[in-house]
Amino acid sequence: MDGFAVLVVLVVVSVVQHQVHGIGRCDVSRGNWVRDDSYPLYEASSCPFIEKEFDCLKNGRPDKDYLKYRWQPLGCNLPRFSGIDLLRRLGGKSIMFIGDSLSLNQWQSLTCMLHTAVPNAKYTLVRTGGLSTFTFPEYNVKVLFSRNAFLVDIVGTSAGRVLKLDSISIENQKLWTGVDVMIFNTWHWWLHTGRKQAWDLIQEGGKIIGKDMDRLVAYEKALNTWATWVDSNVDPAKTKVFFQGVSPDHSNSSDWDDPKAKSCNGQTEPLPGPNYPHVHPAEKVVEKVLRAMSKPVQLLNVTTLSQLRKDGHPSFYGLGGHRASDCSHWCLAGVPDTWNLLLYAALTVN
Ligand SMILES: *[C@@H]1O[C@H](CO)[C@@H](O)[C@H](O)[C@H]1NC(C)=O
Ligand SMILES: *[C@@H]1O[C@H](CO)[C@@H](O)[C@H](O)[C@H]1NC(C)=O
Repeated sequence: MDGFAVLVVLVVVSVVQHQVHGIGRCDVSRGNWVRDDSYPLYEASSCPFIEKEFDCLKNGRPDKDYLKYRWQPLGCNLPRFSGIDLLRRLGGKSIMFIGDSLSLNQWQSLTCMLHTAVPNAKYTLVRTGGLSTFTFPEYNVKVLFSRNAFLVDIVGTSAGRVLKLDSISIENQKLWTGVDVMIFNTWHWWLHTGRKQAWDLIQEGGKIIGKDMDRLVAYEKALNTWATWVDSNVDPAKTKVFFQGVSPDHSNSSDWDDPKAKSCNGQTEPLPGPNYPHVHPAEKVVEKVLRAMSKPVQLLNVTTLSQLRKDGHPSFYGLGGHRASDCSHWCLAGVPDTWNLLLYAALTVN
């Protein structure tokens, strides 16, 4: 009897871990980058709607090796991406990325991957406010991006901009309702200070609780607000929910124990092997919040694989040039394509 109980517990634990860690039986988050001359998955130059900030080659990036790496999980292979297969599976459905410009990065990557698969299929791209809607009419598929840096609300008041840790606006709730596949993300804006900080005051429980607080604590509170919304509003039979894991930046090379490098500038190769020397603090918060949820939410665990790609950022070849080197977004083609391979695997492999 005891043995049976232990076995049942083990089975339950391993099912839960697979939901969090991987695709079916494979943990796709652990692996290493291998050179593959069949890469990249598309040429940015044949993706006509690509945003200038991600088009590193066009912005003058001289080295090209960063385009030639494929993510190889340790115990299995990721399924080969087929854009036509994905469009057929998504037929009649909508898929929405909700979050900051790292969501924009992944959305843009997916639209380029799909367009490359069906270059002659019509598409439309409509932007209204913070919502970008990319449609493939022949397949009746919508790929959307909703800019939303915090997932919870920021509201302008006479006292200043108020970050409401426990509030999700009715407009956003309406926007999210009825979407078939949702991929949420938030992190980078929680760190900003000074002129880049997006709020003046923080509110919780209907009261202003201060001008600032421990950023990881605030992040966890907001993620819990989001988690409560998902747990009470999403029907898993109709809707698949993903959390796009924390995308790391490479602004400080001490993070990968190479103080001489300073930042991502001039980096042309990934780190070898499967391990990154530092654990990302926000990753632990995401893990804790997702584990406590009652509805199945899959983590696209992109953190470690992206940490290894100190070479994948625009650096001087984004929008800011030498004055504002970008070590947080990613060149396209590039690392977010692999995030989409993980998404594709999660949508197609059981
Ligand atoms: C994400 O993947 C890394 C590398 O395999 C692992 O160390 C970490 O625990 C994973 N995080 C979660 C939340 O599963
Ligand atoms: C980089 O990180 C190290 C270790 O955390 C820290 O001592 C250093 O001040 C950081 N450098 C910059 C430029 O922020």
